[in-house]
Amino acid sequence: MNPKPDRIIIFDTTLRDGEQCPGATLNVDEKLLIAKQLARLGVDIIEAGFAVASPGDFEAVNRIAQTVGTPDGPTICSLARAVQKDIQTAAEALKPAAKPRIHTFIATSDIHLKYKLKKTRSEVLAITEEMVAYAKSFVDDVEFSPEDAGRSDPEFLYQVLEVAIAAGATTVNIPDTVGYTTPAEFGAIIKGIKENVPNIDKAIISVHGHNDLGLAVANFLEAVKNGARQLECTINGIGERAGNAALEELVMALHVRRQYYNPYLGRPVDSEAPLTNIDTQQIYKTSRLVSNLTGMLVQPNKAIVGANAFAHESGIHQDGVLKNKLTYEIMDAQLIGLNNNQIVLGKHSGRHAFGARLKELGFELAEGDLNKAFIRFKEVADKKKEISDWDLEAIVNDEIQQA
Ligand code: KIV
Ligand code: ZN
Repeated sequence: MNPKPDRIIIFDTTLRDGEQCPGATLNVDEKLLIAKQLARLGVDIIEAGFAVASPGDFEAVNRIAQTVGTPDGPTICSLARAVQKDIQTAAEALKPAAKPRIHTFIATSDIHLKYKLKKTRSEVLAITEEMVAYAKSFVDDVEFSPEDAGRSDPEFLYQVLEVAIAAGATTVNIPDTVGYTTPAEFGAIIKGIKENVPNIDKAIISVHGHNDLGLAVANFLEAVKNGARQLECTINGIGERAGNAALEELVMALHVRRQYYNPYLGRPVDSEAPLTNIDTQQIYKTSRLVSNLTGMLVQPNKAIVGANAFAHESGIHQDGVLKNKLTYEIMDAQLIGLNNNQIVLGKHSGRHAFGARLKELGFELAEGDLNKAFIRFKEVADKKKEISDWDLEAIVNDEIQQA
């Protein structure tokens, strides 16, 4: 992989870290369906699972490698702890992939070294060197992650990354494993790595982050400004605890605000070239598929893919949007594959929106009839949260056509 990509690489871990959230377990066929949709979405890398974790995970990685890992398809990746058996199993599962990647990791924070690994820093350095080289003996494309990098001593982090790159890692991923950092801190970690790790230009800097403080997407955007070129994310932001950075939010932030981010990628400010390879029109469909198969509901006010993300309820907003969408919309719903902005009619809706919806439903009412229908609509809206098209038809039929 080119260490100086001209786009942001999207690494999707819905099928690995995303599936790690309670209740989201997927069977092999479901994983395959999602992997095919992720390929249509245009993700660059699919982390298909943790091959050593279970026979089901092995089979999922293997079948995705076989079916989706074609030469012009995405890179297929398996996670592996920095231990021989994990790496060997990942390599075996990935064999059918045209572009296989092994992603190996070991923790680097003092908390993890002391309580989880019970190892010294020099032992972690030695394991990193040995296991990255071992992974490299199976595949060219090796990613290394110092787990809990967000809480690791920066000087030790630089040393571990130097060793990993020297042993053959082509991507170094910086995880904020517990979602602890703030955007300014995370950006500074990436800047420090760029400035202090020898040979960092030989590898792509990736970021991985959890949403414990709701900051994962903001942290990643700050990381991009400081040199990160791969973003690890999940559909709908599902994942361990509060989840991972949400793919749809990152991609649309980079799309809507591309003029802001262009200079950080060395592009002219006004360049319209996309910053990722994602086909944004596939976003909504992918979100629905993942939600339906995992059973993880998407909150209505979720950015980009929530039911209310393009809905306008208040009369003032509806009126503005009907006059010109730019008044209250920063992106077109069609960009993510939705047909229209969904104006939800409720008690705050105005006459203009009400009349426009009736027109869409085929009712062309005279002024007086529209007024009568609108009064009845407000009475109904006081009792119901949302007024459906069925309600509207009933209102028109009762109030107007029988008059
Ligand atoms: O959150 C994390 O640190 C991880 C690593 C395995 C990359 O998921
Ligand atoms: Zn994670």
